[in-house]
Amino acid sequence: MLDIERNPSGLGAQIKGIDIAKPVSDQDFAAILSALGNSGVVCFPQQVIEAAQLKAFAGRFGTLEINVANAFYEPGHPEVMVLSNIVEDGKPIGLADAGQDWHTDMSYSREIAYANVLYAIKVPRRDGKALGRTEFADMRAAYDELPGDLKTRLADKTITHDFNKFWEHMRSQPGSRRPPLTEEQRRRKPPVSHPVFLTHPVTGRKTLYANPGYSIRINELSSQESDEILDFLFRHQLQAKFVHAHEWTEGDVLMWDNLCTLHNARPDYGPDEHRLIKRCQVMADKILNPAFVRTAFERAGSAVPH
Ligand code: SIN
Repeated sequence: MLDIERNPSGLGAQIKGIDIAKPVSDQDFAAILSALGNSGVVCFPQQVIEAAQLKAFAGRFGTLEINVANAFYEPGHPEVMVLSNIVEDGKPIGLADAGQDWHTDMSYSREIAYANVLYAIKVPRRDGKALGRTEFADMRAAYDELPGDLKTRLADKTITHDFNKFWEHMRSQPGSRRPPLTEEQRRRKPPVSHPVFLTHPVTGRKTLYANPGYSIRINELSSQESDEILDFLFRHQLQAKFVHAHEWTEGDVLMWDNLCTLHNARPDYGPDEHRLIKRCQVMADKILNPAFVRTAFERAGSAVPH
């Protein structure tokens, strides 16, 4: 039986009573789906896992992405990306600047992402305080608090998301080692459109699916209106009341839902303050299939929560 403790804010929960290294039972799987939908971000503390086990756990929730621009992955496991500022023998062992500003993973992709699953191996600390927190913003609450007329106006609208927007933003940061995307990488990740609002497949709640990292245009509006409304949405969605920060401890497995959260990895540590995290990205192919969600809850002897 899982022990699930939800944060009072509604964003973030801690789940104990499970060993991620072992196969997940149908009951626990349904409970995690539900907790993730309801809390947006869940942490499984004190885990000890290998790359293959991280992959097996994450793979229960959907197909795992192999990032087009990823040079850093676990040998033999291209789905397990290495995020790190550690340099060994003059060579970086991981991507040092992943996710260092507000964004939603893979909103730039035709097939969007459901979840990220990260495993913390080294956490930087200064004066005993953990650095390199990951912040999350709750897009269910952000949707709920949008003005009613804007909800109506944007209900049938779509947004273009572009991979290159965030990539170029990261390249412009001091010390960035990112090269420009190649023609081939751009060809494989052309800009794509998604609805401004999504309905969460597990909770049935509406979410705001826009983010400053990748969103470039509300397609059905004039360029000026689009710029004004995107600017409003970007400021609205990052209000402090929607934000929860995860402070890492070694052994944390952190899982978040990209359908209803934005995130930002805080780069507040130096080159000698080492951070090492392994990450899988889970596509939304399965979770957006109603039969997958229904079956997951039926196997656990329950019904989809909404
Ligand atoms: C990411 O955006 O997936 C990276 C988050 C982190 O390293 O905290």
